[in-house]
Amino acid sequence: MSKPWILVSPASRGIGHALTRHLLRTTTAPILATARTDLPGVRSSILNSLSTTSSEEKDAVSKRLHLTHLDVTSEPSLASASAEARRLFPAETHHLRLAFALPGVLRPEKSPADVDYDAALRTLRVNVLGPLMLMKWFGDFLPRKSVEVSLDPLFTSALPTTSESESEDRGGEEGGGKGKASPHATFLLASARVGSTSDNRLGGWYTYRASKSAVISLARTYDLFLRNRSGDKAVSIAYHPGTVRTDLSREYWDRVRPEKLFTPEYAAERMVEIVRTRRVAEHRGRCWDWRGEEVLP
Ligand SMILES: NC(=O)c1ccc[n+]([C@@H]2O[C@H](COP(=O)([O-])OP(=O)(O)OC[C@H]3O[C@@H](n4cnc5c(N)ncnc54)[C@H](OP(=O)(O)O)[C@@H]3O)[C@@H](O)[C@H]2O)c1
Repeated sequence: MSKPWILVSPASRGIGHALTRHLLRTTTAPILATARTDLPGVRSSILNSLSTTSSEEKDAVSKRLHLTHLDVTSEPSLASASAEARRLFPAETHHLRLAFALPGVLRPEKSPADVDYDAALRTLRVNVLGPLMLMKWFGDFLPRKSVEVSLDPLFTSALPTTSESESEDRGGEEGGGKGKASPHATFLLASARVGSTSDNRLGGWYTYRASKSAVISLARTYDLFLRNRSGDKAVSIAYHPGTVRTDLSREYWDRVRPEKLFTPEYAAERMVEIVRTRRVAEHRGRCWDWRGEEVLP
């Protein structure tokens, strides 16, 4: 019976950092988290912010967290992170149950005149080729049709939860209550509502907007591939986390109503909840927001 593991890339700061902490608290699976620099620093900032009560608990959580170097703009770096994943989680015994492809940079442009060629290219390399290369180098770890996946509950709190909404009822028939989530694997790509062409009423942000539209397209294309390769064992979705208080949105914090500016912790919680409650046939290949509503292409 194949055992699950989780990929969070990147996890150095922002949503990925909070997500890694959340997954360490609320699941039982090992996690491969990636960063471009200061791996020991990232590792300790993730672990130190968890409320472990005993040294055994601390030890157990620490053993589940693996950090590896990964820069999505460098294929050798992707290849070596993938090799590390294969060493830690051999395909004969493990499958990738949750993959979060989150790399993103934002350089806002108001008009075409603001577009700097090299900066735009950097954005496209991180935001578009980034998730695509993560698919290339980590997609093989997703379960194939023939793999018997472990039905062990993935979402069983490993540690006491820390926020109020985390302790709310997680019920819901479709996603299942605690420990009952459907065992299909999900490859999630971080998009954004601005990537919706049909909902584009404001204009601007040419490169970032185009990059996030491309991510919605990539999630769909990859899901069509997974239908053949994995059947209902693995799906791909795109995701809009809302406006989250991270470095990426820093310039806009004071322009967003406080109740609409989420903490990274809340954003992480919602992301996992939406993944947990997606049904294979109905939800695969599409872009979902933090409320579970579709973001149309
Ligand atoms: N924050 C929001 O309001 C918001 C809204 C909609 C969508 N999103 C999307 O959510 C995702 C996460 O955003 P965030 O808010 O957490 O942003 P953030 O705090 O600015 O973090 C960006 C992350 O991307 C990483 N990154 C940049 N270049 C990279 C590269 N070449 N290789 C690997 N990783 C790289 C950064 O790593 P370093 O630490 O090494 O620089 C950092 O971990 C992004 O895709 C973003 O577009 C965010």
